[in-house]
Amino acid sequence: MNENKTASGCPMHASQREAQGDAQWHGAQMDFSESMSYGDYLALDRILTAQHPLSPNHNELLFIVQHQTSELWMKLMLHEMHAVRANLQSGDLPPAFKMLARVARIMDQLVHAWDVLATMTPPEYTAIRPYLGASSGFQSYQYREIEFILGNKNAALLNVHTTAPEPFAVLDAALRAPSVYDESVKLLSRSGLAINPQRLEADWTQPTQPDESVKAAWLEVYRDPSRYWALYELAEKLVDLETAFRFWRFRHVTTVERIIGFKTGTGGTAGVSYLRKMLDVVLFPELFALRTEL
Ligand code: HEM
Repeated sequence: MNENKTASGCPMHASQREAQGDAQWHGAQMDFSESMSYGDYLALDRILTAQHPLSPNHNELLFIVQHQTSELWMKLMLHEMHAVRANLQSGDLPPAFKMLARVARIMDQLVHAWDVLATMTPPEYTAIRPYLGASSGFQSYQYREIEFILGNKNAALLNVHTTAPEPFAVLDAALRAPSVYDESVKLLSRSGLAINPQRLEADWTQPTQPDESVKAAWLEVYRDPSRYWALYELAEKLVDLETAFRFWRFRHVTTVERIIGFKTGTGGTAGVSYLRKMLDVVLFPELFALRTEL
């Protein structure tokens, strides 16, 4: 056969000739019978076969992928935030700053991800909704752990996970441990700033309560940044993170309103009105309160 013709007799493009030639492509390795490939390393066989639409609707894959990718990013956020907390405990701040910046950028990315889901229209979602049963992001144990590790504790929400021992244990531990913010407050104290001793021994299972001594300490930091540069940088990194988190909540509720209006959620709450209440959550209260006084 003419080497420039395919079996059907059509002329071959140069690229096809190269691809079918001697299995070479710009020196790339082509044979993975003996070594680990990209797909092996990333377990793509498992990740890319974990989408199981239940409805016959075309748009359900978007819904699933959006949630699964969010969960993957949340996994990374938790990985980073556990390390941030450990670094705050040991006083090793530069790596903590690096990781806090990464977490905030992940959150920013999740904020933009809502643009993709917003292409889902009410009729498209309505076609899927009956297949979702009572499942809802409300039951996302990774999201709940993120909230807990940032200090928005709520023991009642553990009840959602009583049938899943592993997530329950992880969440229970997160509920009882000091948050990233609690560790920041302890660092203020170790840096010589006066903190109410009760705040340093707080019941960690409770959500962060505003404390005057903490506000006064942060104010001192903000009034003399060059003296407290590391704490000042930490504070601004935390504010960055909370700001990104607020945008995420806001985009969630506005996207939800756009898609389901004021219908109740699959998780059983009133829907948009519940999510609007969550917009009032303040993770690091003193860091925002002090701004009025500067
Ligand atoms: C069409 C898309 C979506 C709709 C209609 C929707 C709707 C809702 C509603 C109504 C709630 C309140 C709980 C309930 O009663 O179900 C909720 C909570 C939640 N959703 Fe979504 N959601 C959507 C997409 C997403 C995505 C893509 C994520 C990303 C993981 C997500 C994460 C969450 C989380 C974490 C909560 C709990 C919030 C909290 O308790 O503060 N949702 N969602």
